[in-house]
Amino acid sequence: GTVALAFSGGLDTTVCVPLLKEEYGYDDVIGVTVDVGQPDYEFEEAEETAEALGLEHYVVDAREEFADLCLQAVEANADYQGYPLGTALARPVIAEAIADVAEEQGCTALAHGCTGKGNDQLRFEAVWRDTALDVIAPIRELGLTREWENEYAEEKGLPVEGGAGGRYSIDTNLWSRSIEGSELEDPATIPEDDIYLWTENPSGKTAELVEITFEDGTAVAVDGEELGSVELIEALNERAGAHGIGRTDMMEDRMLGLKVRENYEHPAATVLLTAHEALEGLVLTAEERQFKTTIDQRWSEKAYEGLIDAPLMKDLEGFIDETQTRVTGTVTVKLEGGHTRAVSRESDYSVYSESAASFNEEAVTGGITQDDATGVAKYHGFQSRLAKSVTESLADE
Ligand code: ARG
Ligand code: SIN
Repeated sequence: GTVALAFSGGLDTTVCVPLLKEEYGYDDVIGVTVDVGQPDYEFEEAEETAEALGLEHYVVDAREEFADLCLQAVEANADYQGYPLGTALARPVIAEAIADVAEEQGCTALAHGCTGKGNDQLRFEAVWRDTALDVIAPIRELGLTREWENEYAEEKGLPVEGGAGGRYSIDTNLWSRSIEGSELEDPATIPEDDIYLWTENPSGKTAELVEITFEDGTAVAVDGEELGSVELIEALNERAGAHGIGRTDMMEDRMLGLKVRENYEHPAATVLLTAHEALEGLVLTAEERQFKTTIDQRWSEKAYEGLIDAPLMKDLEGFIDETQTRVTGTVTVKLEGGHTRAVSRESDYSVYSESAASFNEEAVTGGITQDDATGVAKYHGFQSRLAKSVTESLADE
């Protein structure tokens, strides 16, 4: 039979090609690379590696679908422990696309190069186990280490990249680039700057303003220019990356319970999440903002798990979508020295009243004056004062 392998041209997926034949007895392996906005050099590498392996190679363009999902994640202010979920959001999209190719090509099995320690195995398989095809995870099932894989690749003369690029396990898409493995596994190791490719050292760069327009919570334009989701994210990766924005160095709690040290870069995600939250601050009521943090967090957790089709997600999106009908307007963010922050926000749905909040106006609004707060101020903290006096009088007895 034929097996369809999720193929990136990196070490793990490269060693899977001969192993699927030798160890699993498949006659043919087809490699599928799904385009979720990786940079060109990754496709060149995948193409070259496939050719050297004699691997039949398919590339599926899922950029738009993925970019739309990323912008949807912004509506949920989505992050997991500070990580904007690039890999997590991409996995179900990639898994679906590969399953489609496998079915078209008459494959009997699906394979991935994930380890048995990570999240990606779970995300791929949650999608794949919904098909009738067999699911194979050679790295996990054969208990392979990267050291073993490197030796095997050398022995077999497999085309794998040496040096720094080959040292790390890197996962890239439009939304984020993740760098893990090797010396970075020690949380105490300070990473070299050269692990980062999208974000430049920001020192000496002049600050820059970027205006982002949102419609119903979705980012639609940059500096007034309407852009499709893919172009919009690409443009912001470039603009904000030049200022070193969007680097995360963190301890991440994986689904299986392992803690791992992760390094990410995600300039566009940081800018869009910052801008979106600033606009919500202008248009949503206090209680909506507060309640939404709970909804958003739950959405992010499910997204981290790769379960974007779970019924709960649709339920949460019912709430999110309703709030987003007012998240229309523009936010200007400042890109400066590795950081970004909102410096201006405007919306027709603004709940803000300048005359009500201003220190320069005596009236609040609708006939309410400053003095009307006197009664509120007298009551404020009343229950705490009562509780304190009870405790004190009991202590005196
Ligand atoms: N820990 C991150 C996540 O679970 C990134 C995983 C990166 N994957 C990789 N094959 N290097 O989303
Ligand atoms: C892997 O273990 O295959 C990569 C990292 C992850 O899945 O979390």
